[in-house]
Amino acid sequence: MIVPGSASQSLAAALAELLGEPLAAVEYDRFADGEQLVRIPDTDERAIVVASTLSDRAHVELLQLQDAAAEMADEVITVLPYMGYGRQDEAFETGQPISARAVAKAITTGTDRVLTVNPHETAICEFFDVSCTPVDAARRLAKPLPTMDDPLFLAPDAGAIELATSLRDGYGSGETDYFEKTRVTDTDVEITPSDAETHDRDVVLIDDIVATGSTMSTATSQLEAPARVFVACVHPLLAANARTQLANAGVDAIFGTDTIERPVSSVTVAPTVAEHL
Ligand code: R5P
Repeated sequence: MIVPGSASQSLAAALAELLGEPLAAVEYDRFADGEQLVRIPDTDERAIVVASTLSDRAHVELLQLQDAAAEMADEVITVLPYMGYGRQDEAFETGQPISARAVAKAITTGTDRVLTVNPHETAICEFFDVSCTPVDAARRLAKPLPTMDDPLFLAPDAGAIELATSLRDGYGSGETDYFEKTRVTDTDVEITPSDAETHDRDVVLIDDIVATGSTMSTATSQLEAPARVFVACVHPLLAANARTQLANAGVDAIFGTDTIERPVSSVTVAPTVAEHL
């Protein structure tokens, strides 16, 4: 049975349909003091909890779903379409926690196995004390891209070049390259242009996450006279005024997946996740 978190209901439904498994009609409730509560009406032997942890509340909800599922099922599998706190994969200053490790430890206690889509670094899978499978869904972002002649698939930093290559392979043609990025603050980045020719050429910028939009809007502003600019990302977090920043920078369209359910989530990762269940 597929057990959806409140923020992952569309993806959970798509997975249930693909796998031919029932979809639990989970009830999400809140007490007067603000504490939340969930109820899973029933489950079968294998419960697959599908929950992006976009907020602190979503983390608590996931722990509750796992605990309730474990009462009824023999096996609990946890699918984290988007794992919150994944970018805090080290202590940046003395005295800070490794937050990704802290949440991974908590999630571990309620599950037999974890599967997560394009974690910021695959190394965060090692923070779980149960098996954790990282799944790459970047290739699926090729589907909604318009027809392009000799496109350039550009990653904002060297770490994202594999995403650009996956997407280019999914699209079937085009060149790949990457910028050099230096993060100044959490909302400010510096980007050094690549040598790739962008004049009158369609450019697809690809990254794992678009959060504040600073990376993609700064990258767009470095492109010299491109024909069209498309932004593709696995996790369209799109916090604060990210969409406005991207529009003002000259981005023509944004394509994301349903690891985070937003208006731009035109691609489902369900087939990629289903392959690993
Ligand atoms: C960080 O290295 C990630 O890969 C993304 O580049 C980053 O999370 C994007 O954040 P923002 O949209 O706030 O620039």
